[in-house]
Amino acid sequence: MRKLLPLIGTPSGSHPAGRSALTCRFRCGDACFHEVPNTSDNEYVGDVVAGALSRRSVMRAAAVVTVAAAGAGAAGVAAAPQAEAAPAAKGRPRPQKGARGLRFTPVPPNTRDAVTVPDGYRQNVVIRWGEPILRGAPAFDPERQSARAQAGQFGYNCDFLALLPLKGERNRQLLVANHEYTDEILMFRDYDPENPTREQVEIAWAAHGLAVVAVEEDRGNGRLTAVSRHHLNRRLTATSEFRLTGPVAGSDLVKTSADPTGTRVLGTLNNCSGGTTPWGTTLHGEENFNQYFANGGSATDKRYGIGTGATERKWERFDKRFDLAQEPNEAHRFGWVVELDPYDPQSAPRKRTALGRFKHEAATVRLTHDGRPVVYSGDDERFDYFYKFVGSKRMRHGNSRAAREHNLSLLDEGTLYVAKLTGDSPAIEIDGTGKLPKDGEFDGSGEWIPLATATAHGAVSHVEGMTAEEVFVFTRLAGDKVGATKMDRPEDIEPNPVTGKVYVALTNNSNRGTGANPKADEANPRHANKHGHVLELTERWNRPESTRFAWSLFLVAGDPEDPSTYFAGFPKDAVSPISCPDNVAFDAHGNLWISTDGSALGSHDGLFGVATRGERRGELKQFLTVPTGAETCGPVVQDRRVLVAVQHPGEVDGATVERPASTWPDGPGSYVRPAVVAVWRADGRDIGV
Ligand code: FEO
Ligand code: CA
Ligand code: CA
Repeated sequence: MRKLLPLIGTPSGSHPAGRSALTCRFRCGDACFHEVPNTSDNEYVGDVVAGALSRRSVMRAAAVVTVAAAGAGAAGVAAAPQAEAAPAAKGRPRPQKGARGLRFTPVPPNTRDAVTVPDGYRQNVVIRWGEPILRGAPAFDPERQSARAQAGQFGYNCDFLALLPLKGERNRQLLVANHEYTDEILMFRDYDPENPTREQVEIAWAAHGLAVVAVEEDRGNGRLTAVSRHHLNRRLTATSEFRLTGPVAGSDLVKTSADPTGTRVLGTLNNCSGGTTPWGTTLHGEENFNQYFANGGSATDKRYGIGTGATERKWERFDKRFDLAQEPNEAHRFGWVVELDPYDPQSAPRKRTALGRFKHEAATVRLTHDGRPVVYSGDDERFDYFYKFVGSKRMRHGNSRAAREHNLSLLDEGTLYVAKLTGDSPAIEIDGTGKLPKDGEFDGSGEWIPLATATAHGAVSHVEGMTAEEVFVFTRLAGDKVGATKMDRPEDIEPNPVTGKVYVALTNNSNRGTGANPKADEANPRHANKHGHVLELTERWNRPESTRFAWSLFLVAGDPEDPSTYFAGFPKDAVSPISCPDNVAFDAHGNLWISTDGSALGSHDGLFGVATRGERRGELKQFLTVPTGAETCGPVVQDRRVLVAVQHPGEVDGATVERPASTWPDGPGSYVRPAVVAVWRADGRDIGV
């Protein structure tokens, strides 16, 4: 069970079951306490085939959740799944051999203050918050931290991770990481939230952003260690220079007194997850950017949840650009996808405005058959949408300067679409309990609705009543107008490189079906959806640029004992419990790996692998769990290594530096530190074979 220490300075009310008030406060600015920002009356899946909700079904959903929570609480640790031994009770016959890549003994749900990996696997901490990576940066000393030191050290709360090749350097790769947000209460002894000092604020600016750091592998195993002072090592923070490119660059909507050109922005904020491009750059989603801006009463973009008063961190006291009463357009310069060229430490990263502005969870890329980029991105908010960008220029191969420069323009021209989904079962069969409809699947068809097209000569809007500039800056409003489908918090979206199918993690939505909020529909079939689900999308003719697709729910998460769960039809007595899917990744076999954030099952968060094809499709197994208070992020699954970011360990209600809830990774007497962990097999063989 999550430790419950006395609340300090937190708003009253209930938090999502598995998430601490501290995390809600610092990570997303208490997004769940605010009104649902999407009050548009556009059609949702349930409207397509109208149906009613019975009182009995609501009761049943509530009862299931209560029983599951009570069971986990009574035992302290939920029962371990019997993945290999249990006989098939129902569903398909049990195949004998595990899916290739997933042949490990699952880690049982647990609440250890540790990273727990399967038997026969080993782990090491690759890099922690505060480790020096740039020349001249001092060793980490949290009692004497300074903004200058932090700017040369690994940042706080690592989230997205990428491992890129380093040609010509044996046994080395380049690690790129996001630093989503800071938790000042766990970073500073005696922190006073009402009166942060300038030094504390500047440390927080320097602890946000991105990091690039070379890592070296031990020969013969998967251990990774950071290479400090490598010439490609780099930190980008809330004060580094970024460029705005694409259709919004130079627009009046993004001009400020410090930047009358509307093209140069200081910093990137709340980088959650991201992606790696086929041309060797990385993408980073700016997610809950709204929380950093104060006095948004007259802000034009009401759909983004910008508050009217002071902010949690009070940055507006130290830089007026965070005060929208003084700089109303500054918030328009955040909420973008950032593209970084990690191989060019001099280059300014670009904010790609053609990909739209919303709370980008991530951005993942594939190519069309003729070499154009297609980027998927979810908007992580209750009842918000997911999107696709289809570029109009082809990628050039090779590593010449001309090719690299060309490829750095690929995300500035193309069309942005939003998803609209339709179910194929009668609405009366979607009763909000998660009970499968008569055709045995939550499934249907969908279309990508064009919002705007950016070209080298200007941009064209496809949304009545909005200019192209408005569509790109106020993308949520454009989605409202065209009737996009309101989803249960779209997180990571990623195409499977083996099958081409696209997976959308929908983490949870406890407001689904409550009060005046939208009711269950076939794509979001549970009311008070605490555990989330994963949608599988197949582009028509398997062409990434198609404007039509088919979809079905691949997983409906929760305790497998809960009748509302679904694991692609695999026997439910043979899968691990899972709750709140967030980031996804694939291994070379095409298995889907899912990390979780805020498990509402009483266990710590973790990383899971699940087969997506063959006779074991839907068999889900837990690979690791993370320490107290942490979420699992940024999974990278290589042949011999799994890499995860342990984000916000120790972030438990009431915890402080003086009263830590976790002392991971260094033990009692040390500060809890977000860190990156590598996991490998003790016998040196590939993961899960
Ligand atoms: Fe930063 Fe949507 O998780
Ligand atoms: Ca159906
Ligand atoms: Ca996330």
